[in-house]
Amino acid sequence: MISPVLALLVSFLCHCVIEGRNCPKPQELPFSTVVPLKWSYEPGEQILYSCKPGYVSRGGMRRFTCPLTGMWPINTLKCQPRICPFAGVLENGVVRYTTFEYPNTVNFTCNKGFHLNGTASVKCTEEGRWSHSLPICSPITCPPPSIPNFATLKLHGTSAKNISFYQDTAGFDCLPHYAMFGNDTITCTENGNWTELPECREVKCPFPTRPDNGFVNYPANTALYYKDKATYGCHETYALDGPEEVECGKFGTWSASPTCKASCKIPVKKATVLYKGEKVNIQDKLKNGILHGEIISFFCKNKEKKCSYTEDAQCLDGNLEIPSCFKEHSSWAFWKTDASDREPC
Ligand SMILES: *[C@@H]1O[C@H](CO)[C@@H](O)[C@H](O)[C@H]1NC(C)=O
Ligand SMILES: *[C@@H]1O[C@H](CO)[C@@H](O)[C@H](O)[C@H]1NC(C)=O
Ligand SMILES: *[C@@H]1O[C@H](CO)[C@@H](O)[C@H](O)[C@H]1NC(C)=O
Ligand SMILES: *[C@@H]1O[C@H](CO)[C@@H](O)[C@H](O)[C@H]1NC(C)=O
Ligand SMILES: *[C@@H]1O[C@H](CO)[C@@H](O)[C@H](O)[C@H]1NC(C)=O
Repeated sequence: MISPVLALLVSFLCHCVIEGRNCPKPQELPFSTVVPLKWSYEPGEQILYSCKPGYVSRGGMRRFTCPLTGMWPINTLKCQPRICPFAGVLENGVVRYTTFEYPNTVNFTCNKGFHLNGTASVKCTEEGRWSHSLPICSPITCPPPSIPNFATLKLHGTSAKNISFYQDTAGFDCLPHYAMFGNDTITCTENGNWTELPECREVKCPFPTRPDNGFVNYPANTALYYKDKATYGCHETYALDGPEEVECGKFGTWSASPTCKASCKIPVKKATVLYKGEKVNIQDKLKNGILHGEIISFFCKNKEKKCSYTEDAQCLDGNLEIPSCFKEHSSWAFWKTDASDREPC
C-alpha cells in the first residue's frame, strides 16, 4: 500500500520535472502542413511548417519550438500558389481563365474559320508549369476541290493558291449535253472538307412531234440533248397555243408542247365590235374571223337605261360563243340606233 505521504511526495517530484506547460495542437495555416502534427507537445519539442505542393512560402517563420509557457508563437507564414507563365493571349481565338495560379485551368477556343491546334485547356501544375504546351489557332483549309465527271471548274475563290480556306467557294459548269444535279457551287466547310459535289448527267430529249396543222423545227442531229431548242409554227388560220420556242430540260422533257388551234369565223353579218382596243366593223375588218385565243367585245343594249355595255367572246379552237345579250340588226332596220352608238352605261 502506498502511504498518503508518499503519494504527495511523488506528485510534488513530478511537478518539479515537468515544470513548463504543454503546447496544444498548432494553428492551421492555409495551404501548409505541420510535421509532426499532434494534439499536444512538450516544451522543447519542435514543429516544422511547410507549404503544400503547388504553394510557396512568401515570408514568415517555418520552424517553432514549444516554449515553457505552452503557447505557440504567432505564425506569419504565408503559403501562396505558384504562378504559371502568362497565357492570356490566343491569336484568332479566345482564352478563358480566372488566374494563372496553381491549380487553375485555362480554356482555349478559336474563332470561326480557325481550328484549335493543340489542347483545349491547360492546367497550372504544382511545379508552376502548364500541363501542356499552349495551343494555337490554325486557319481551316480545304484541299484543292475535286472536279465532278463531265464538269469544268467555272470559278474558284482562290484560283492562285493550291489551298482553300474556310468558306472559299468553287463553282462548276457541266459539259454541253450534260445537266447539273446538285449545287453548282461548293464551299470549304469548317470540317476542312467541301460541301457535296454536284453531278453532271447526260440528258436526251425525244424528238418533238409535229403539231396538227403546224410544224416544228429542231437541229438535224442524231439525238437532241439538254438545252437544245425546237421552234413551232402553225399553218395559216391556225394559231400557236404555247411558246414558239421550247427547250430540252434537265429531266429529258421539253419545256412545253405547243399545239395549233383553229381560228374562228364570226357568225354575224354586220356589227361593230371592240377588237384589240379599237372599234371595228366585222364586215370590213374581221371577215376572216379571229385567231384562237383572241377576244372580241360585243356591244349590248340596256333597254331601261338606254345605254350600252360590252360582253367578251373568246375564240377557242374554232369555237366562238356570241354573247346572248347581243342582237344583230336586221339590215332593213336602218332607223334603229346601233348599240355601239349609244352612251356607255
Ligand atoms: C474550362 O472548361 C471547363 C470544362 O468545360 C469548365 O468546367 C471550366 O469552368 C472552364 N474554365 C474557365 C475558366 O472557363
Ligand atoms: C499545328 O501547328 C503546327 C505548328 O505551328 C503546324 O506545323 C501544323 O501544320 C498545325 N497543324 C494543323 C493541322 O493546322
Ligand atoms: C499547286 O499544285 C500543283 C499540282 O497539284 C503544283 O504543280 C503546283 O506547283 C502547286 N502550286 C503551288 C503554288 O503550290
Ligand atoms: C448552293 O450553295 C450556296 C453556298 O454553298 C448556297 O448559298 C446556295 O443557297 C445553294 N443553292 C442551292 C440551290 O441550294
Ligand atoms: C465532311 O466532314 C464531316 C466530318 O468529318 C463529315 O461529317 C461530312 O460528311 C463530310 N462532308 C462531306 C461532303 O464529305
